[in-house]
Amino acid sequence: MKKRLIVGNWKMNPASLDEARKIIRKTRRVAGELKRTDVVACPPFVYIPASISRWDPKTLPVGAQSVSFDESGPHTGEVSATQLADMGVKYVIAGHSEVRASGDTDEMVSKRILATLSHGMTPIVCVGEKVRDEGGAYLETLKEQIKNTFAYIESKYGKDIIIAYEPIWAIGAKEAMQPAQVYEMSLFVKKVFADIFGQASAMSVKVLYGGSVNARNASDIISIGKVDGLLVGRESVNPVGFIELLRAVDEIV
Ligand code: PGA
Repeated sequence: MKKRLIVGNWKMNPASLDEARKIIRKTRRVAGELKRTDVVACPPFVYIPASISRWDPKTLPVGAQSVSFDESGPHTGEVSATQLADMGVKYVIAGHSEVRASGDTDEMVSKRILATLSHGMTPIVCVGEKVRDEGGAYLETLKEQIKNTFAYIESKYGKDIIIAYEPIWAIGAKEAMQPAQVYEMSLFVKKVFADIFGQASAMSVKVLYGGSVNARNASDIISIGKVDGLLVGRESVNPVGFIELLRAVDEIV
């Protein structure tokens, strides 16, 4: 059985190193007890060194929230894939809608994915439609977004990619997408992925759902939505809720 994957995207939280350490400690303790679930924490860059355990790097691998697509050089404010890999980072979120909203194009996302893969890290590639329309035009938009996002990625990398389907209207919202819709959309995403990378990669690719996931809706999204895991924003920096969510997901057989 494929283990489920729960990724915590901390975004620009918490406000202090002290709090970051507490979240990591609590999350790692629970992650170590889970049987069917892998957990990844994606803190802001500044907390990455404090989040990676030298003694126990496997229980709670760490991901970055972005990466430069340049190798090195005069890029003020950027962090390279070489630097992240050297720190022990294993995953990189690429194409999050908040980063796309501040200017990332599909092409830039594609280059970030390439930088991630070529340094041996796993990209968690966010895709999702802004709005839905009755006529279903959003499906075409989503398909185009996925195709363009992987424009620079050779098919040999197909098996190393994780996709996070995040309908933008459900991010930071009150309610997540209905689990039955999550199921339909994850099938659609897999189908588009198969068109790009082939059937074999589509069989093994993990598709996560993200957008207003919490301890109350996580189990249904996994069991009815049949996704391979979740990308969790707000709730991942709330240890009480996140621990409850992790335990609930781990109970699903
Ligand atoms: P949310 O964020 O869980 O706070 O809706 C999800 C995300 O942006 O990845």
